[in-house]
Amino acid sequence: MIRMTRKLTFSAAYLPGPPGNPGAEPTGHTYHLAVSVDGPIDPRTGIVVNIKEIDHCVREAVLDRLQGRLLNSAVPEFAARLVTPETLVGAIAGMLRKRLPDGVELSVIALEPDPLTRAVWMAKEEQNVEEAGTVRMTRSYEFAASHRLHSEHLTDDENRELFGKCNYANGHGHNYVVEVTVSGPIDDRSGSVMLGEALDAIVEREILDRYDHRHLNHDIPELQGLVTSSEVLTKTIYDRLVSQIPAPARLVSVLVRETARNLFEYRGEKGLL
Ligand code: NI
Repeated sequence: MIRMTRKLTFSAAYLPGPPGNPGAEPTGHTYHLAVSVDGPIDPRTGIVVNIKEIDHCVREAVLDRLQGRLLNSAVPEFAARLVTPETLVGAIAGMLRKRLPDGVELSVIALEPDPLTRAVWMAKEEQNVEEAGTVRMTRSYEFAASHRLHSEHLTDDENRELFGKCNYANGHGHNYVVEVTVSGPIDDRSGSVMLGEALDAIVEREILDRYDHRHLNHDIPELQGLVTSSEVLTKTIYDRLVSQIPAPARLVSVLVRETARNLFEYRGEKGLL
């Protein structure tokens, strides 16, 4: 399963305090919303779901209903309930839950009314596969690469229809950000899960030195014949790194940011998101 996260914003007002408070003056926020869905990579297209479909669902089910509105009247449950980030994120989950395209499941919604506040709704308890006493460490890396989204399993017309500009024959580029998370017990000598320099050396050798300033479709052997979508890229990076992390540390997840608004995360075949 790949977790795909889409970030959006909307502005809305609400009456603070208990419902029916006569003296309440409306106040408002520009809310930052991050919607995560989980699904398998479609082997024909190399993607989980067309991001335009997710945007369309979120726009129709949530943004069109809330943008610029007074939440107390726009959302029926707020007629009798306090509007808080926690109640609002739950209400948004209710609006989205049955509305998403086939093949994906709503997994997490994060709502930030301001940079210091975040309310998170989760479809199920995130399963903690790590043992007690283990610690996580995440390091971020960047590389720039070009690619072209094109599937050999689709006709030229289908490719153009599905991938749009990303299907242009000569490709385009991204500054990819990769976050690698490892976990394990703290080593008494180093005081860390594994030395940051050791992880950097592995990621440089396996990924950055090989991918940076390359064309992913042509220059990277492990991507040959695959659609170079962010989903496939995320899984490929994970699969390449997983055997390289020295025990007792282990690779937990690889997260790829293709743009500031699109995130993709993979935690292995059995890795629970
Ligand atoms: Ni692209």
